[in-house]
Formats: sequence, structure tokens, C-alpha cells
Amino acid sequence: MVGTTTILLGLATASVAFAQASCGLSSKCNSDTPCCSQYGQCGVGAYCLGGCDPRSSFSLDSCVPEPVCQSKTFNFNSMDGITANTKYLGDSSTTDWVMSGQAVPYDNNLLLTMAPDTVGTLLASSTYMWYGNVKATFKTSRGQGVVTAFILLSDVKDEIDYEFVGADLSTAQSNYYFQGIPDYDNELNISLSDTFNNYHTYEIDWTPDAITWLVDGQVGRTKKRSDTWNATSNQWDFPQTPSRVQLSLWPAGLSSNGIGTVNWAGGLVDWNSADIQNNGYYYASFQSVTISCFNASSAPGTNTGKSYTYNGDAGTNNTVIDGTDDTVLSSFLATGTNKTLGASSSAASSGPKASSTVQTIPGLSGSGPGTDSHSGDSGSSDSSSSSSASAAASSSPSTGTSTDSGSGSAATGASSGFSQGSGDSSSSSSKKSGADKLGGQERVMKGSIFAGIVALVAMMAL
Ligand SMILES: *[C@@H]1O[C@H](CO)[C@@H](O)[C@H](O)[C@H]1NC(C)=O
Ligand SMILES: *[C@@H]1O[C@H](CO)[C@@H](O)[C@H](O)[C@H]1NC(C)=O
Ligand SMILES: *[C@@H]1O[C@H](CO)[C@@H](O)[C@H](O)[C@H]1NC(C)=O
Ligand SMILES: *[C@@H]1O[C@H](CO)[C@@H](O)[C@H](O)[C@H]1NC(C)=O
Ligand SMILES: *[C@@H]1O[C@H](CO)[C@@H](O)[C@H](O)[C@H]1NC(C)=O
Repeated sequence: MVGTTTILLGLATASVAFAQASCGLSSKCNSDTPCCSQYGQCGVGAYCLGGCDPRSSFSLDSCVPEPVCQSKTFNFNSMDGITANTKYLGDSSTTDWVMSGQAVPYDNNLLLTMAPDTVGTLLASSTYMWYGNVKATFKTSRGQGVVTAFILLSDVKDEIDYEFVGADLSTAQSNYYFQGIPDYDNELNISLSDTFNNYHTYEIDWTPDAITWLVDGQVGRTKKRSDTWNATSNQWDFPQTPSRVQLSLWPAGLSSNGIGTVNWAGGLVDWNSADIQNNGYYYASFQSVTISCFNASSAPGTNTGKSYTYNGDAGTNNTVIDGTDDTVLSSFLATGTNKTLGASSSAASSGPKASSTVQTIPGLSGSGPGTDSHSGDSGSSDSSSSSSASAAASSSPSTGTSTDSGSGSAATGASSGFSQGSGDSSSSSSKKSGADKLGGQERVMKGSIFAGIVALVAMMAL
């Protein structure tokens, strides 16, 4: 814990030193780094892909269009279809899941792992569901402070959750958010048999009129849109925008997190637990995920085009366009308004010097291209860098500042596989703003948003 705390502090410092811009609804990104990541930081490249919030970005079209829904079943018996976030440029036809962290195929399952001093693992679907049905069959992790999650999250932060706190293996927590607005009353528990020892199939059935959470085919909860009217804002506080499926394992029980979060998670993570001693990491075992698109014949809820974009700041379902815009960037220097920027030459590696401070991959900014060594000293000093192998492919800038290097995360990126337990990246990022968010609305964004924040923060310092 101490080590982690140090890391986190180092991180915050690093991000400040970085001067990377934070973003939000009232402070959009500027034109140089136009894309506001899911965690509230401005950048280019991967910042403009999944999670990019159009409303907080420089313009609505700064974010790359979101690949439309594809109905498909994923059986997690290999790493096929899983691409590190440091390699993914938006082509959902070649990638089903974008990963940060370390996943391990095991016994026809995919283990999402969380080793000591890492922030766990996150898989996000490459395509977006605009309503529809998604079910996942898995066994959760266990232990206080350890959270397993299966959620839907849109780029304007509508969210539908299943979350599992490792200290309580007989409860699935269901929850939802409308545009990330904190609401403490939306959570409801569903009781079930031991989630660590038993596979259960968790299902979210989402239509414009209701969300139904089903466990093993039995309805555990239903939330109707008609019960979500907000008379203050005159709208339905109901998830309604295209969302990615996210599977994650993350440490809510870190002393650096707010006490509310730690308490929610059942206490601090025990990094000397039996699972750690026996396996080297905490793990959640994912067997399969099935996405069934909504298939509406007219908006909302269609998937007839190639991508979803927003044509208005409201972020409601009538501002979503199911269109034909391309979703792929040529390099990590590109953005939604210039998808070919940095194409050949710079993509190679010698990215333009001028951009050496540009953030290209949430949570990994600054790592130098081609550096694949990483110090295994995860917890050592706050930012002893570990570079990320991954960012290599991209043009991400090298940067020499020490703080910067701290951000590299190793593992994940490596194409194949994972580095040892030290680095691990995770998703995304959030850096300073993430921290702010945590501090400000602790417990609110527990879902993936929170996970990503924690992840990034910790990762940056590894
Ligand atoms: C759900 O269960 C957790 C314990 O696992 C508890 O802390 C929380 O208060 C419960 N929520 C509700 C709404 O009952
Ligand atoms: C209603 O909407 C306002 C404005 O977005 C928000 O601040 C408030 O929390 C919402 N009310 C509830 C009960 O969620
Ligand atoms: C939508 O169509 C696809 C392809 O035919 C199918 O697999 C999927 O189950 C359908 N979705 C729903 C909700 O019926
Ligand atoms: C989504 O759009 C439909 C059709 O425009 C509308 O009837 C419905 O109320 C909207 N849903 C929400 C949650 O706003
Ligand atoms: C995109 O960037 C390239 C390289 O700088 C430039 O040649 C091209 O004109 C830009 N395209 C647009 C639409 O701005």
C-alpha cells in the first residue's frame, strides 16, 4: 500500500509537470490536443478512439466515429481478437477487444489478472451497442478491495453496470448512470450463489424503454425509462447512447483512494493473499460474451451504418447518427478531423519532434517509441519509468523528461504478451483529472471510469 501511495502521489506530480490539459464539459480541449479521453485528459491518437467524449473535446468531430454494433459471441479461449490499446487504431474489423493490463488464456477462459502493484486489467469492446442485449459468463475474483466489473459505458458516460466486490461473493451490484451524473440511489443488489466458485451468466437487456438485469436467465432487476424523469433538466436520466462493453478487474481498495471507495470495496487489497501467493495475481475468469445488437429499423438503436457520431451537445439519443464515416486512424498522431495525419513517415517511429509532448495513448503518453525495456521495479521510486513496449508502434513521442517516462506502462502494450507483473497497464487514463474526479465524487464513478482512473494513475508511475 505504501508503495502504491507513493506511486500515486508521484503520478499526480508527474501529470502536473506534464501540463497535460484536463477536460470536461466546461473546459473543452484545445485544437492541438483536441480529444478528451474517457478519463478527462486531452490528447490525440488513442485519445480520440474509444472513450473519447465528444462533448468535452475541441469539437464533436474531434473524436473518431464509433464502430457500429456487431452481433457476435466471443469465446475466450485464446488471445485472438484481443489487441493492446497501444496498438489499436480503430479498425474494429480486426479487433474485438482493446486491452490494457494483462489477460491470460487458461482452461478455455480468459483470466483478467491483477498482480501486486498493478492496477488490473480492462477489456473494452471495439464496437458500440446502441441498446441491445449483452450477456457474459464468468467467475469473479475475490478478496477485499478487489472489484470485478462487467459494464456498458458510452462516450458521453451513460453507464449500465454489474459490479462485484470481492469481499461479498453472494452479491451482484447492479447500477446505472445517465451521462455520468452522480446519483447514489441507482444501485441495487442481486443475490446469488458464490460468484468466485460458480459461473453465472450476467445479462443486460437494454431498450429505449427499460433496462433489465438478468442472472442465469432470471430477472434480477428492471429499471424503466418512465421512472427516470428529471423535472429539473426536463429529460430522462436514462442510458441511451452507444456504449462499449467493458470487462475489468481493478483495485478499489487502495489507500490512495477515497475512504468511501475503500469501504465500498470491503477494505484494502491484501497483496499477500492466498491467490497472490499461489498464482501471482488476483484473477477473474471470463468464459464468453455475447452481444446481440438492437437491430432497430430506424433510429434510435440501429446498426445499419458503419459508425455512430454525435450531431449535438445534448448527448441524448436523438443526437446520435448511425452513418458511414470511417473509424480508423493512420497513426497515433491523427485525430477525428484528420485521420491521416502522421500517416507513413511519422508512424514509423521517428515521430515529429514537434509533437514530442503530445499525448497519444491515455495512460502511456510519453513513452518512447521503440523502447521495450522496462524496469521491473514497479514499486520502486515513483516514476522510474518503464517504458512501454507498446507505444512503440505508434509515433508516440519520446520524451525525455523524467516525469514523463514514468507514464509508460509496460506490459500491456507488448504485443504478445505481458510482461511480468510489474507494469500493467490499464486502461486509460486519467491522470490528474482523474484524481480530481476521484476526490470530488468518490464512489460515484465506481465503474470502469473509476477503474481506469486508478489504473492510469498507478500505471503512470510504474
Ligand atoms: C449492496 O451490498 C453491499 C455489500 O455487498 C452493501 O454495502 C450495499 O449497501 C448494498 N446496497 C444496497 C442498495 O443494498
Ligand atoms: C437532474 O438533473 C440535474 C441537471 O443535470 C442534476 O444536477 C440532478 O442531479 C438530476 N436529479 C437527479 C435526481 O438525478
Ligand atoms: C440482431 O440481428 C443479429 C443478426 O441477425 C442477431 O444475431 C441478433 O440476435 C439480433 N438482435 C436481437 C436483439 O434480436
Ligand atoms: C430515445 O429516442 C426515442 C425516439 O426518438 C424516444 O421516444 C425516447 O424517449 C428516447 N429515449 C430516451 C431515454 O431519451
Ligand atoms: C491532414 O494532415 C496532413 C499532414 O499534415 C495534411 O497534409 C492534410 O492536408 C491534413 N488534412 C486535413 C483535412 O486537414
